[in-house]
Amino acid sequence: MTAVELGIPFVRRTMDTSARPDTPQLVDRFGRIATDLRVSLIDKCNLRCTYCMPAEGLPWLKRAELLDTAEMNRLIRIAVEELGVTAVRFTGGEPLLRQDLVEIIGATAALPSRPKTSLTTNGINLGEHAEALVSAGLNRVNVSLDTLDRAVFKELTRRDRLDDVLAGLAAAKRMRLEPVKVNAVLMRGINEHEAGDLLRYCIEHGYQLRFIEQMPLDAQHEWDRSQMITAEEILERLRAEFDLSPDVAERGSAPAERWLVDGGPATVGVIASVTRPFCAACDRTRLTADGQLRSCLFSTMETDLRGPMRAGADDAELIRLWQGEMWAKAAGHGMDSGEFAQPSRPMSAIGG
Ligand code: 5AD
Ligand code: SF4
Repeated sequence: MTAVELGIPFVRRTMDTSARPDTPQLVDRFGRIATDLRVSLIDKCNLRCTYCMPAEGLPWLKRAELLDTAEMNRLIRIAVEELGVTAVRFTGGEPLLRQDLVEIIGATAALPSRPKTSLTTNGINLGEHAEALVSAGLNRVNVSLDTLDRAVFKELTRRDRLDDVLAGLAAAKRMRLEPVKVNAVLMRGINEHEAGDLLRYCIEHGYQLRFIEQMPLDAQHEWDRSQMITAEEILERLRAEFDLSPDVAERGSAPAERWLVDGGPATVGVIASVTRPFCAACDRTRLTADGQLRSCLFSTMETDLRGPMRAGADDAELIRLWQGEMWAKAAGHGMDSGEFAQPSRPMSAIGG
């Protein structure tokens, strides 16, 4: 039987790994080493951001399809203790909807190699959980906030929850989950006029704001390059209200280009994923909530770890599969070229 007949969603073309150097690290054919693991813990969300999913939500993964606590912890341990991963970021969907989040963060933070841990959240339940997260060992958070206008928030996320997000942010700051980073996506005709307001708000409250170019990752496949607010346009809007100078601090593999605002110390970041891709410096490896490895947000293929794990694979086998997936990592996503193919799974199922 073929993999398709067996119901395996993604098939990896067999990649020759004979040229792979003999190292445990997650190296690829272009000399990059992945040390930053993004784990999507759940595909569900309590918002319905229009750039992410349709109003009715998506056909969520079933309970049995999701990795359970022990499976998650096992794979994270392998990544950190065997494969050289030094930072683990938890995403979703909305990771705070996962009941065992605190337990998983606790297990990760307690690993002997002490990886850095962070959480990307929409902030809604953050106020309630911040203290437990900090006690479990969480280091940092990234909170999504695209608007400060209640009506716009409701239009954009299809839920009237702006106050919860702002309370979540305040709790993160109070609990010193710092730097508290804020992610904002600007959309034409919706919140594009708010760039300056968002920056002022974040500076006032001590949050680090980063604007992200909207990427073709919506479940509805409605992304339109010509409608996208580009990094250039974001900077132009900000320059009308602030003095921006390049922040000389080393960018490294960080995707955000940072600018000092009015001479600093406040900064603003712009993540030009589409118009100025940073694939050449990428250090990421990704695990989905249902146990699929991806070498890139935009991969069209995945490597299944859940199946082998549930069939009794030992650590050595999972390590080999992980190394193989990363060796096959493409040079870049080609998002700004005509040949770009949107991944068949939406962002909420892959993890941001
Ligand atoms: N393009 C850019 N950013 C997106 N996010 C979700 N979908 C998209 C998209 N299509 C953002 C969220 C969150 C982070 C994980 O990614 O707003 O801040
Ligand atoms: Fe939820 Fe994030 Fe998608 Fe918004 S972008 S619907 S907060 S997963």
